[in-house]
Amino acid sequence: MPYAHITGWGMAAPEPILTNEALSKMVDTNDTWIRERTGIRERRIARESDFTSTLAVTASLKALKVANLRPTDIDLIICATSTPEYMFPATACLIQDQLGASKAGAFDLLAACSGFIYALNMGAQAIRSGSIKSALVIGSETLSRFVNWKDRNTCILFGDGAGAFVLQASERPGGVLSAVMHSDGSGGNLLTLEGGGSRYPASETTVHEGRHYIQMDGKEVFRFATRVMASATMEALDAAGLTMDEIRWIVPHQANIRIIEAAARGLKLPMDRFVVNLERYGNTSTASIPIAMVESLEKGQIKPGDKLVMVGFGAGLTWGALAAEWTGPIPSKGHVHPEQYRAFGRLRSYVRRAIRFIEGLLYRREL
Ligand code: ACO
Repeated sequence: MPYAHITGWGMAAPEPILTNEALSKMVDTNDTWIRERTGIRERRIARESDFTSTLAVTASLKALKVANLRPTDIDLIICATSTPEYMFPATACLIQDQLGASKAGAFDLLAACSGFIYALNMGAQAIRSGSIKSALVIGSETLSRFVNWKDRNTCILFGDGAGAFVLQASERPGGVLSAVMHSDGSGGNLLTLEGGGSRYPASETTVHEGRHYIQMDGKEVFRFATRVMASATMEALDAAGLTMDEIRWIVPHQANIRIIEAAARGLKLPMDRFVVNLERYGNTSTASIPIAMVESLEKGQIKPGDKLVMVGFGAGLTWGALAAEWTGPIPSKGHVHPEQYRAFGRLRSYVRRAIRFIEGLLYRREL
């Protein structure tokens, strides 16, 4: 059975920064409160020209470059997102088209902030089963479009960004070692974005009632998160047959520093074993774990041979953890330039649309 290795990684953060100071001019809050209660100092906000797919494409191209793979080598694209561009088509298909990943299947995965853990596990399982050789797993968000900027309970928490991993099959042991996934729909009402789905299709009333904004019972989500972070981490370790002493890093969902500190207490670990960067990005949902991973890799903290656990929680309720051994890119000859395939992808897209248009005309004439 092949192993699923993480061989490429990349991230994208929109340039505009929204500081706590700037937020406190928009809503009744202040920098001290936000830092003390959440650990967040600033977050990135998507420009008008940034979308969930475009942030994902930027992160994916970097990940493909690290893995030295062409977009056309990818068999499967999974985009975990809480803020898809449309109800359908899937954002993963928009990414597939923009990358020029001509042979990839593509789908979105919705498990809120646990989505990246779920998606990484699904990609790894597809590789482990032998049905595919490579996958691009992405967490990408434009949460700022769904935040009520008058609601101080939520608007201080969230930010935009994307992270992407390339998974590849290899006979060498390592890569994704185990994963656990959980859900409890009885807590679905604690964190919601109701408008625009089939129960509350968009209407004047849904807009008036604020159903197109994120609604959250912060205290209850906090209580749930502190309960599950440590237990899911231990479960993933047990499933991989590892002990905590063998784990170098815990990479938690970056929601609130107090939740991470509670997990550290639960696991009896010092905070320096946790990768934390939420002070600069806030909670970027599915993107938070891969962004934290990429920054840590670029700083040289995570090294080949390190074993680590990624652990997340989110709306649903969902939670999960994944244990991995870090190996890095598979050595390969030559250098590919994944970004060149974007032009090819755009051309391919135009040609396909033109053919579809001509075929449509001919078909109509035949009727
Ligand atoms: N600025 C200033 N004061 C505030 C703010 C604010 N932004 N927000 C709340 N307060 C006030 C409250 O009104 C309250 O005042 P009161 O005591 O006079 O009534 C006081 O501060 C305490 O409010 P709490 O709600 O008790 O604050 P708490 O310490 O619980 O922190 C927070 C709130 C940060 C939202 C916390 O509960 C939390 O982080 N929860 C988890 C949220 C989370 O992680 N969500 C994402 C899940 S992942 C996903 O799927 C998207």
